[in-house]
Amino acid sequence: FRVWRWSWRLVQLSLIGGVAYVGYEIYQDRNPEPQVKPDPSKKTLVVLGTGWGSVSLLKRLDTENYNVVVISPRNYFLFTPLLPSCTTGTIEHRSIMEPIRTILRSKRGHVKYYEAEASSIDPDRKVVRVFDNSEVRGETIETEIPYDMLVIGVGAENATFGIPGVRENSCFLKEIGDAQLIRKKIMDCVETAAFKDQSPEEIDRLLHMVVVGGGPTGVEFAGELQDFFEEDIKKLIPDISDRFRVTLIEALPNVLPSFSKQLIEYTESTFKEEKIDIRTKTMVKKVTDKAVEAEAVSPDGKKEKVSFPYGLLVWATGNAVRPVVRDLMGKIPAQKDSRRGLAVNEYLVVQGARDIWAIGDCAVAGYAPTAQVAGQEGNFLARLFNNMAKTEALEERIRDLSGSLNLKPGNVAEISREIEETERQLRRIKDIKPFHYSHQGSLAYIGSEKAVADVSWFNGNFASGGSLTFLFWRSAYLSMCFSTRNRLLVINDWLKSKLFGRDVSRE
Ligand code: FAD
Ligand code: NAI
Repeated sequence: FRVWRWSWRLVQLSLIGGVAYVGYEIYQDRNPEPQVKPDPSKKTLVVLGTGWGSVSLLKRLDTENYNVVVISPRNYFLFTPLLPSCTTGTIEHRSIMEPIRTILRSKRGHVKYYEAEASSIDPDRKVVRVFDNSEVRGETIETEIPYDMLVIGVGAENATFGIPGVRENSCFLKEIGDAQLIRKKIMDCVETAAFKDQSPEEIDRLLHMVVVGGGPTGVEFAGELQDFFEEDIKKLIPDISDRFRVTLIEALPNVLPSFSKQLIEYTESTFKEEKIDIRTKTMVKKVTDKAVEAEAVSPDGKKEKVSFPYGLLVWATGNAVRPVVRDLMGKIPAQKDSRRGLAVNEYLVVQGARDIWAIGDCAVAGYAPTAQVAGQEGNFLARLFNNMAKTEALEERIRDLSGSLNLKPGNVAEISREIEETERQLRRIKDIKPFHYSHQGSLAYIGSEKAVADVSWFNGNFASGGSLTFLFWRSAYLSMCFSTRNRLLVINDWLKSKLFGRDVSRE
């Protein structure tokens, strides 16, 4: 009885502690302290982008040390791991967005933000050319922003490999607008297929959802789509229920190439149970407004042409370099052999450039283009910049003290001691180790409340898949959400879609 009573007290205390913590966080967000005004004598640090890399940097950067200017066409941070859930309404899109203004307002030193896109960088004149094509102005305005230090965190765009018809006919899945478009199109296909007197071929085409690319984006989206159909659409529109199909097309021999063999097999067998058709060794060559044309390698090694009529096509074949990055690469001779982005050294400095750093998907540092890598790179740069500012302050102090040695001959011993102590601090601070990525593991949702996880465990690897892994996936991503507000909204969305089903109305 005593054990029970103490356990109950512990639960009560944890609950009270949890609620108090959440309350405190909300209070702090709503009542930020006054900010320190920009100091023109400090260096100007320009940060491009408001994604994983840049926001991780801004979160940890001591913004009092620099005049920080953030430039991005997106005035919010997007928690991409839950973006596939927005395509079906499992999660509402605003739940995974965090306004950059809220993030920057919580900083002690004032940070300027411009909603604009960088079009080019001049590394010789140290300026970034930016443009803003706001709808309210009705015209595009361009200007230049000078920098002393520049961080490029502009991410990547969708790779299409120049395949004809992809840009015109596909939906991508990178931004909030993409997820909203997919959500609308799914219901458009369903409602059009349910319309009076449709031919069976047309119903089959409209209800055929094709996903190209068997990487994590394609797999997670296919899983979410099948859930949506099984849990909601089938119940609401039973007359079309046996015609809905999801096909996942992948050029390689298997999906999820970055996961372990065991999890690839588990994913493929789960998809089979979920009736998701996986077409591996199938390379898409052309896309028209109603069909995907591909070349498939049959088991006997022969190549054959296949056509997939579709209602919705989602293209998820990875990343390509953004124009602003390609333009800069063209201006730096040391970048001429780099293909996938800006080659950086172990301190994330762009090779062949001065005072320019690159992080995340636009940088080539030898790691996969993931949020985990971008986040750790951003954290590393924040530490580096905080240390650089401290180093400069200490060097100045040493200069001042050395200068006063001649002026105050009576205090030589005391001043020398202080110089020695400052030099010791300086050596400690200057000793920054190069960037080292620590891989925590990979997670992916595969539909029907199952997930796969390749997690680093002490010095080994731990692979698991299934419903328990799904709970781990949810709790891991919940804990990684940007803010308490995001966390509460995501929990609310999960509960809402479980209790009432997903909202199938088309805005
Ligand atoms: P981004 O986060 O893409 O941010 C780029 C920023 O730059 C944006 O704010 C953009 O608006 C801005 N920008 C673009 N062009 C310009 C310009 N010209 N000037 C100024 N600013 C510009 N990774 C994981 O590790 N785990 C996951 O579960 C996971 N899930 C994902 C799910 C999906 C659907 C997708 C698409 C990706 C997922 N990723 C995941 C990958 C992860 O999102 C990326 O690796 C990560 O976003 C890269 O961060 P970044 O800062 O380099 O770029
Ligand atoms: P990806 O690069 O991982 O996968 C793209 C796939 O498309 C490849 O397997 C490729 O073989 C295939 N492909 C390319 N051209 C093709 C064609 N013409 N026809 C058929 N298939 C073709 O891309 P993805 O999934 O967009 O991921 C991008 C990055 O984001 C990766 O680094 C990934 O790890 C990360 N990410 C991580 C997630 C997670 O950890 N849960 C979720 C989503 C993305």
